Amino acid sequence: MKTNIAIFASGNGSNAEEIIKYFKNHDYVKVALILSNNPDAYVLKRAENHKIPHYVFDRQQLYKTKIVDEILRLNGIDFIVLAGFMWLVPERLVKAFHNRMINIHPALLPKHGGKGMYGDRVHKAVVENKEKESGITIHWVNEKYDEGDIIFQAKCKVSPSDTPADVAAKVHKLEYENYPKIIEKVITENQ
Ligand code: GAR
Repeated sequence: MKTNIAIFASGNGSNAEEIIKYFKNHDYVKVALILSNNPDAYVLKRAENHKIPHYVFDRQQLYKTKIVDEILRLNGIDFIVLAGFMWLVPERLVKAFHNRMINIHPALLPKHGGKGMYGDRVHKAVVENKEKESGITIHWVNEKYDEGDIIFQAKCKVSPSDTPADVAAKVHKLEYENYPKIIEKVITENQ
């Protein structure tokens, strides 16, 4: 039996793309669903290109109804991967997917995390703070932004001349190299 993954993403979806490619023809993991809160997200186009079922939900549907839960159930989803998903996951879904939902954050948590800290804002904060290093954190999802137990971190150097875009490029590289492999490892260990 394959483990079916749903990816939640709000924007470009370059991480989603890497994850989709990594698990294409995989023995026991399948990217079975892409979900987004943003009807204009490029990740939906990526889902279409790879012929992966995809749905868009709004705030009311996510927080006040169980439509998303139902879509997950109907698609036989066992595991949720957040990849650039900008909304807080409601508590009932966190509970339903306890130890079956992970997130990636583009910095070394607990630094530069929390509400409003996402994407380029994080890299801007790293540069403004004159950090000497940044990186990625992959963690379990709980009811609070970026506070679940850490599974994996990887670092990159930040030089004084780096712009937020330079830091973003280094961090994205780390994400693409590591997120698919860590997803595979976590699923394998929890099977
Ligand atoms: C990624 O860098 C991811 O770590 C970050 O958003 C970016 C999405 O890029 N996530 C967060 O900031 C979550 N707090 P992508 O859509 O190209 O994968």
